[in-house]
Amino acid sequence: MCGIVGYIGDRNVYDVLIKGLHRLEYRGYDSAGVALETPEGNINVYKARGKVANLEAFCKDKNLDASCGIAHTRWATHGEPSDSNAHPHFSEDKKLALVHNGTIENYKVLKDALIKHGCKFHSETDTEVLVQLIEYIRLKNDCDLIDAVREALHQVQGAYAIAVIECGHPEQIVAARKSSPLVIGIGKNEFFLASDATPIVEYTKDVVYVKDEQIAVVRRGEPLKLVTLENEEADIDVTELEFSISQLEKGGYPHFMLKEIFEQPSTLLDCIRGRVVEGGHKIVLNGVRDNKEKFLNAKRIVIVACGTSWHAGLIGKYLLQEMCGLPVVVEYASEFRYNNPVINSDDIVIAISQSGETADTLAAIEIARDKGAFVYGISNVVGSSIPRCTHSGTYIHVGPEIGVASTKAFTGQVMVLTLLALAVGELRGTVSREELEKCGEWIQKIPGLVREVLKLNDKIERLSAIYTYARNFLYLGRGYNYPTALEGALKLKEISYIHAEGYPAAEMKHGPIALIDAEMPSVIIAPDDHLYEKVVSNVQQVKARGGSIIAIVTEGDDIISKIADYVLEVPKVPEFLTPIITSIPLQLLSYYIAINKGKDVDMPRNLAKSVTVE
Ligand code: AGP
Ligand code: GLU
Repeated sequence: MCGIVGYIGDRNVYDVLIKGLHRLEYRGYDSAGVALETPEGNINVYKARGKVANLEAFCKDKNLDASCGIAHTRWATHGEPSDSNAHPHFSEDKKLALVHNGTIENYKVLKDALIKHGCKFHSETDTEVLVQLIEYIRLKNDCDLIDAVREALHQVQGAYAIAVIECGHPEQIVAARKSSPLVIGIGKNEFFLASDATPIVEYTKDVVYVKDEQIAVVRRGEPLKLVTLENEEADIDVTELEFSISQLEKGGYPHFMLKEIFEQPSTLLDCIRGRVVEGGHKIVLNGVRDNKEKFLNAKRIVIVACGTSWHAGLIGKYLLQEMCGLPVVVEYASEFRYNNPVINSDDIVIAISQSGETADTLAAIEIARDKGAFVYGISNVVGSSIPRCTHSGTYIHVGPEIGVASTKAFTGQVMVLTLLALAVGELRGTVSREELEKCGEWIQKIPGLVREVLKLNDKIERLSAIYTYARNFLYLGRGYNYPTALEGALKLKEISYIHAEGYPAAEMKHGPIALIDAEMPSVIIAPDDHLYEKVVSNVQQVKARGGSIIAIVTEGDDIISKIADYVLEVPKVPEFLTPIITSIPLQLLSYYIAINKGKDVDMPRNLAKSVTVE
């Protein structure tokens, strides 16, 4: 959600900032802006509603000379997307310019107090309160910017990643974070600041992940300095980035989403590499191996996540219940955090998040930790907040996911949950050696089988043309493929803006069946599993009401294939692995329908890649 970029060094500051904003576009935003400080110490701010390209057009004939600068893509929370609400925001005296990701919860109280002190506001944002407050403190206490930032951050409640520059100080950028991400890249005589490492990786692989309530001071010619809000100097842990710039390019595909769908054979291989070993006969998950007692003594598993990660969590429930015999509940993190969750010290809480930054999931983790649970994280982004605040966990290792609609991260999450269920099942004695070996062998075949499924691409592209103008869709599945149906429907909604509902197939007769007519296509996920016969009845119920059916079935299917209007055949795999296989055609179907409708599949309207606000 939204992004920050900052740069100080000898490169063309404006170019680095704009390129960085482009790299962060995938996170979702509605306006963009930049503040450039000239070598003489004057600050110029330029901003524009809409795409970064609008900002570039606006800046064409402007003074872009700079010694340092900060830039922002905004995802509006307080005040509509507009030029005046876009960041950077100036303090009243125009001495400070600030960019901010997050929300200041007590902004109203602070704003009223500042107005009483004579401050005038020029935007509806909570952010402007922060920059005015910092400047007010700086003048009142006659202190330097760092002390003023520290003091101001003591007064604000909420989430923030900020970067501030000050007139007359072209040699310095001050930044800080709490609950919103901030990474600093360390180059040779230069520093980069960003919400994630994507704008940084082409310049340097050395990064520092700023921790909550730390202030970073980057100055030309000086080493990076980190201080806490209590003004104590903090250690600097430099981490080496593991991904490369080529992973951030489209690599010949028209969209990141299509590239990421097609990457799945290799991302799934990366995900299981070193974890499914000895010909598939051994599963090694360090997070389980190092916490054996916790997993042996667990009485229950609670999964918390949002969106697609929540769907992966639902599949996790089927996996963990089947393989470990443990009761599993799956909660939306946003509900969990406010529903007085009953959590015991022998519960294991699994938090799933691609970005590792989702605010609701972070809050749920904090509650679970406070209540004494052992918290296990499943994330993609190395160094993000969730892996850092969980007790243990597993990275899915699928590489940066740029398309806002999650595809390869979803299958990576499901794969990690599969490995987790098997590893914990073996540990607890609910999965026998023989079963584990059989499952491991199948898991090793999955990347190759996904490659086979991707051969459906052309057929799905043709099929998509028939359904492009449908106004509603129903996605139905049972058992392991009920969550797949939810995920298929979410994918379609997100990128094509067609209304779609996922439902457990048998639940359809309790209501949604009323919607079915010739105008309402149903996508039915019906692999050859123990519920197949039951799904056949559900398919017949749809057909009897004149509904059109697209069915995902196992190769060789001869019952549903005869009833459905269109059939997509996938290879046979054991039931527990079907969601990975069946979700691929659903990803492609939504992609092509959205493309036919001319939608921006990589950056769908209103959505953000990582939702760092509540
Ligand atoms: C996925 O396509 C969505 N964009 C969204 O539902 C996402 O899964 C959700 O916001 C959770 O994100 P996370 O995995 O980064 O926590
Ligand atoms: N809350 C701020 C605003 O609405 C910042 C939003 C963001 O994170 O981009 O301007």
